[in-house]
Amino acid sequence: MDIVHIGKAKTVYRTEDAEEYIIEFRDDITAFNGKRKRTVPQKGYFNARISARLFQLLEQRGIATHYKGMVDDTRMLVKAVDIIPLEIIARNIAAGSLVRRYPFKEGKKFIPPLLVIDFKSDAYGDPMLNDDLIRALRLATEKELATIRELTLRVNTILKDHLNRRGLLLPDFKLEFGKGSDGKIIVADEISCDTCRLWLKDSGESVDKDVFRYERGDLITAYEEAAKRILS
Ligand SMILES: Nc1ncnc2c1ncn2[C@@H]1O[C@H](COP(=O)(O)OP(=O)(O)OP(=O)(O)O)[C@@H](O)[C@H]1O
Ligand SMILES: [Mg+2]
Repeated sequence: MDIVHIGKAKTVYRTEDAEEYIIEFRDDITAFNGKRKRTVPQKGYFNARISARLFQLLEQRGIATHYKGMVDDTRMLVKAVDIIPLEIIARNIAAGSLVRRYPFKEGKKFIPPLLVIDFKSDAYGDPMLNDDLIRALRLATEKELATIRELTLRVNTILKDHLNRRGLLLPDFKLEFGKGSDGKIIVADEISCDTCRLWLKDSGESVDKDVFRYERGDLITAYEEAAKRILS
């Protein structure tokens, strides 16, 4: 199969249908802009399953996503889109880079949630954007940006509710959006332990990529625990 893109954690393949791609969730994991790297058996499998479940949940609640089904355990059939080079981060609880860069205490709750938009660009180190920069760089129109913000808030409400009922807190997560051939903006990429912060409600323990970032124990044990709850 023709490769469209080899990313840090996933590979995107063309299919016979120009409107469809296959995304393979690999076992590679990276952090700190690729400075820390490892291959962890089964990681792709858990992220693929979690992503599929959460995309299905969003679809059920009327949010359009790129998800079309699973080809096998680690390969997802998706709508081919042009990715808008923005990383939309919704934050419900202060953690990670936010507490390193700003005087927020870890654990501070944000009501309403805080939306932060970064430039999806490895070359520039994913810097934070504002509306003026997004306009000047022509990354999205005002209308597209409003749609993206509104969708992100809706996704946040749906995910937070699903996870909370399963004993998980959602401090923050990242979304990517894409435009299909019809110009419609839909949720793309993945929603997984690599792109969400997930804390066990009882213990505050991380069951997400922070386990890898900060060497907090066995990654697969954590991802499996997250999957068990999210898929239940
Ligand atoms: N439906 C889709 N159609 C086209 N591209 C997609 C779709 N969903 C996700 N992508 C893109 O596929 C790639 C997935 O690979 P991965 O997440 O490993 O990349 P990455 O490490 O974030 O790399 P990069 O920063 O180069 O995109 C991402 O670039 C993502 O934006
Ligand atoms: Mg990615």
